[in-house]
Amino acid sequence: MSKGFPHLIDLNDYPISWWNKIIKLGHDIKNNPQDYLDVCKGKIMATLFYEPSTRTQMSFQTAMIRLGGSIIGFDNPSTSSVFKGENLKDTTKVISSYSDILIIRHPNEGAAKAASLTSDCPVINAGDGGHLHPTQTLTDLLTLKEEKCRLDNLVIGLCGDLKNGRTVHSLCKALSCYPNNHFVLISTEDLKLPAYVKDVLTVNNCKFTEVSSLEESLPSLDVLYMTRIQKERFASEEEYLAEKDTYILDRKKMLRAPKDMIILHPLPRVEEIAIEVDDDKRALYFKQAEYGVYIRMALILTILNSKTIFPNLVGQPYLGVACSNPKCITNYEHYLPKSFRGIGDIVECEYCDERVLLK
Ligand code: NCD
Repeated sequence: MSKGFPHLIDLNDYPISWWNKIIKLGHDIKNNPQDYLDVCKGKIMATLFYEPSTRTQMSFQTAMIRLGGSIIGFDNPSTSSVFKGENLKDTTKVISSYSDILIIRHPNEGAAKAASLTSDCPVINAGDGGHLHPTQTLTDLLTLKEEKCRLDNLVIGLCGDLKNGRTVHSLCKALSCYPNNHFVLISTEDLKLPAYVKDVLTVNNCKFTEVSSLEESLPSLDVLYMTRIQKERFASEEEYLAEKDTYILDRKKMLRAPKDMIILHPLPRVEEIAIEVDDDKRALYFKQAEYGVYIRMALILTILNSKTIFPNLVGQPYLGVACSNPKCITNYEHYLPKSFRGIGDIVECEYCDERVLLK
């Protein structure tokens, strides 16, 4: 087990004041980049990308280079020892001894948490399966703060693959911590937001409505967060094809949207936003991707200067009980200690948040 570092696995592991500080720093970096040129000189960031990525990986790399630091890593596990069968524990242990901060993206839920248990430096979750994506959320929060000038009193429409979209899960959890936000969850029956995220909204006294029509929702929104149907998370091609073209935002639909509504998208865009919408001044997804560099600069700097230490695991194992989520990292890397939070008959896997029935 590692001795504990200021990891970023889930934004909700930190207080809202910490998020706000990073957003403020991101704003300052955007306006005064010359003040941050060499602040990470001599530091090394490793990127372990077990899943495809363009923006997240390159914005992290750009961020570290702009701070004066250096980068190592892989974006294609088949050219690393992972291809020879090396487990996550050994890769993390070794690469964390080469670097000062480790950024990981992995197809299995809970993988960043698992990596943090053995890492000898801070681990940042750059997306773990369909679970969470905290650094995209920080990007989204900076974008909202810059473009809407607030993170509260917003009506946010989230449209598309709300079931598998990790950016959606992290964003809902975060925005529900600011007062008076209202969520309009636009999806088909099969791609609804998972119960554990809806529970967070309820616990935080957030209003939310689940609807199926994008057209009917548009007039009420301050923000429309479009998402791609996550093809790689579907069990079969048929199931994906049945969902694929349900929601397409085009110029005609945009006629129904308020003049000051903004359109965000974590990207990559596939068919869900017609190219013609790019010329609409409300389409801010490319600017959003640019904000991703400033916020990641702020994050790297903050984590490298932080003294926070997280306990490795806070939950407990139950004899013979495994996580019921087939994509949970604990069902692939069997040496990992199982750990569940909560009491009673239903507990939550500490890696992937899946609810597990004990009896
Ligand atoms: C997202 C992701 O990887 O979850 N992209 C990103 O990081 N900007 C969204 C997606 O893949 O649909």
